[in-house]
Amino acid sequence: MKRLELAMQLTQSDTFYLHRSTLGCILKCWGNIMKLEADTSLLEGEILVPPLKWAGGKRWFVENHRKLLPEKYERYIEPFVGSGALFFSLKPNQAILSDTNKELICFYEQLRASPIELFNKLKAHHRKHSKEYYYKIRSSKPTSALGQAARFIYLNRTCWNGLYRVNLKGEFNVPIGTKTSAILDTDNFTLASELLKRAKLYTSDFEAIIDKARKNDFIFVDPPYTVKHNKNGFIKYNQHLFSWDDQIRLSKSLIRAAERGAKVLLLNANHTSVRNLYSSYGRRVTLERSSVLAANSQRRGSTEELAVQIW
Ligand SMILES: C[S@@+](CC[C@H](N)C(=O)[O-])C[C@H]1O[C@@H](n2cnc3c(N)ncnc32)[C@H](O)[C@@H]1O
Repeated sequence: MKRLELAMQLTQSDTFYLHRSTLGCILKCWGNIMKLEADTSLLEGEILVPPLKWAGGKRWFVENHRKLLPEKYERYIEPFVGSGALFFSLKPNQAILSDTNKELICFYEQLRASPIELFNKLKAHHRKHSKEYYYKIRSSKPTSALGQAARFIYLNRTCWNGLYRVNLKGEFNVPIGTKTSAILDTDNFTLASELLKRAKLYTSDFEAIIDKARKNDFIFVDPPYTVKHNKNGFIKYNQHLFSWDDQIRLSKSLIRAAERGAKVLLLNANHTSVRNLYSSYGRRVTLERSSVLAANSQRRGSTEELAVQIW
């Protein structure tokens, strides 16, 4: 408020002369500062749980490995956003979020634009939830973007393990799961919407997004895990396979961004082929975690992942 009072005193003073366009520009800047301060205080101290569950989601990383993040950065860029576990935890002031999954990005757009309406639609699904209703909604094709977003989060919360998988026609085909509630205690769509107002959203392949990064931006990179000679559990859940050529293309675009001065943190499979891709760049850290995705209990247990820091 003090800044605003000062601005008003200055503009009322008869000894103070400013050209109208300069004054307009100063007031606009002040307006932006005040707006930023207001937004920041709204989200300060709030814990935001990501609204979606996602295969390969990084809640475990957020809880255990904050020390790997850069201390300071300007824009936060996440080219494989999924459930955005790190974005919702860090609550950055400026962000670029992207994914090739257009239903996912449509959901975030609607959450940002109409949080209350979206929540009401989700509650309506929740009230009617049953096996029969799930399959009816799964085969439905809402025409409005809000209807599509509500269907998307309803299916995400009630399908098997929060998976997203589509058939060759692009139709969601995950069976019903064991969760019976589409509403969670942690839901705060209004706050999530406020945070998303700080983000530009894109449905895009990663390369065009990484090419936007400039000096002091932070790029958090969490691609599907593909290794050179091995089909791992993650690729089969993707509509389009993320190939080894994509991993090579990704490494090249990240190295270009790091050379422009962006700070890159990549997570990936801890595999020799991936380590070799980044052998001349940055710092490689092995992360240990317990694995729960595999349906086969013999494949559960502790797995290793790789973090590559380039800055
Ligand atoms: C491992 S998940 C990201 C998880 C995310 N970090 C989280 O916390 O939920 C990988 C994401 O990459 C997306 N994806 C797959 N291929 C892509 C591509 N070529 N460009 C951009 N995104 C892609 C998938 O749709 C998926 O959401």
